[in-house]
Amino acid sequence: MGVRALQAASAVVVTLVLVAAVVWAARAWNASRVPARYDATELGPVDLGGAPPVHHHDGAAVDGVSVAALRERGTSDVRFTLTAAHATVRLPSRRVLDGLAFDGRIPGPELRVRQGDVVEVTLVNRDIRDGVSIHWHGVDVPNGEDGVAGMTQDAVPVGGRFTYRFRAEDAGTYWYHSHQRSADEVRRGLFGALVVEPRDPPPGEDLVVAAHSFGGPVALLPSGGRMHRRVAPGTPVRLRLLNADDHVHEFGLGGTAFRVVGIDGRELEAPEVVRAQTLAVPAGGRYDVAFAMPRSPVTLAANGSSDRISLGDGEATVDFSRMLDLTTYRARAPAVPTRFDRTFRIELGRKLGFFHGGVKLGRQWSINGKIHPHMPMLMVAEGEVDRIVFVNRSGSPHPMHLHGHHMLVLARNGRPVTTPWLVDSLDIRSGEQWDVAFRTDNPGIWMLHCHNLPHAAKGLVTHLAYEGVHTPYRMGTGSGNEPE
Ligand code: C2O
Ligand code: CU
Repeated sequence: MGVRALQAASAVVVTLVLVAAVVWAARAWNASRVPARYDATELGPVDLGGAPPVHHHDGAAVDGVSVAALRERGTSDVRFTLTAAHATVRLPSRRVLDGLAFDGRIPGPELRVRQGDVVEVTLVNRDIRDGVSIHWHGVDVPNGEDGVAGMTQDAVPVGGRFTYRFRAEDAGTYWYHSHQRSADEVRRGLFGALVVEPRDPPPGEDLVVAAHSFGGPVALLPSGGRMHRRVAPGTPVRLRLLNADDHVHEFGLGGTAFRVVGIDGRELEAPEVVRAQTLAVPAGGRYDVAFAMPRSPVTLAANGSSDRISLGDGEATVDFSRMLDLTTYRARAPAVPTRFDRTFRIELGRKLGFFHGGVKLGRQWSINGKIHPHMPMLMVAEGEVDRIVFVNRSGSPHPMHLHGHHMLVLARNGRPVTTPWLVDSLDIRSGEQWDVAFRTDNPGIWMLHCHNLPHAAKGLVTHLAYEGVHTPYRMGTGSGNEPE
């Protein structure tokens, strides 16, 4: 072949490659678009976890039920109102936040209720134009009380209200936050702690400490700065550590040995004592630690923050060098299932493509090789024990949060954990595999998403849906509902 012919041939090849690339990009872009109003259960394929679709025992398909019908019906024992509004809040550390607040406070009021109570909370939106909602993170509420805009309700508009009701069944530490434009609204302050106290609360000190960064340095709230509290030696102390941020935070407790007595609103039985250990609490997660106040001071800190919470006189040094590995922590083991009705594999990754019709080609978050909204939706029936195998190949950690259920942690990287524990938020780091089990005992349509909320806003979201449940609510820019 002559030089001319060679040049012509390569020009043809280059043209063909370019055309193919343009065709691919046009198709990928087109497929990435989402309607202005859409039913979040209808966009992606259904994943049945290796089991056949479910039918009633008599062979008929499951009757349809709307999420709007799945509400708490008991009579309320305790009532609160939370008003969401813009606020300028000065933390005790002097830091001034131009934020969004419940009842003018950041974090919002700490709600304390008794185990067994039916809790009623009325949300009022004073002036937040994007709308608001409240999700009860970690409380396995009836689906219609879950507070997800566009899935279980419409976002509450300015001047509107919505009343939530749920039974506080398990004593422990929870939190609440807006689930409308959550990446923005939670960062700016629309969150607070919820504590379910046991029926007979034990005596002693009981403190919630929340880590949140408002997009800047992390603060230990509600005090912020350096807080001191007098506690008499011998007093039982329970610290409830809440990570209300987008990234894992390492909490260190200096000056005392302690036990991990609760995780994500579930008590651990007979937990072992550990000393000078750092706890890595995933975004959205809560770890409760307990100890008897020694004669010398005890100090709580978070790695990377100058804030300190000190009990007793003075401050203890906090050593962040020894991380507690929960996979080898010892406590009394709960009953552990060995057979599963379904096994779902959720592989977190990245894939070149477009996001929601945007023009920027980039590496998007993916689940099982699909970019939102084409991620598979997990489909289950009531009364099962199912398993999820999370695999992370994305290069970034993802704190995965399942609504409405607790997941029993079984194994990391194929190795069974010493004492399985229950979570609603689990950090899946890159390169890791985690096996968890859960019971399908709470019908509805539930979000399963990354609690690094900017990741969720960029599509790291899927759903767990019970067969026969549907939603009348719509998401999308034209619906006013944008849960992430
Ligand atoms: Cu704490 Cu779907 O959220
Ligand atoms: Cu993530």
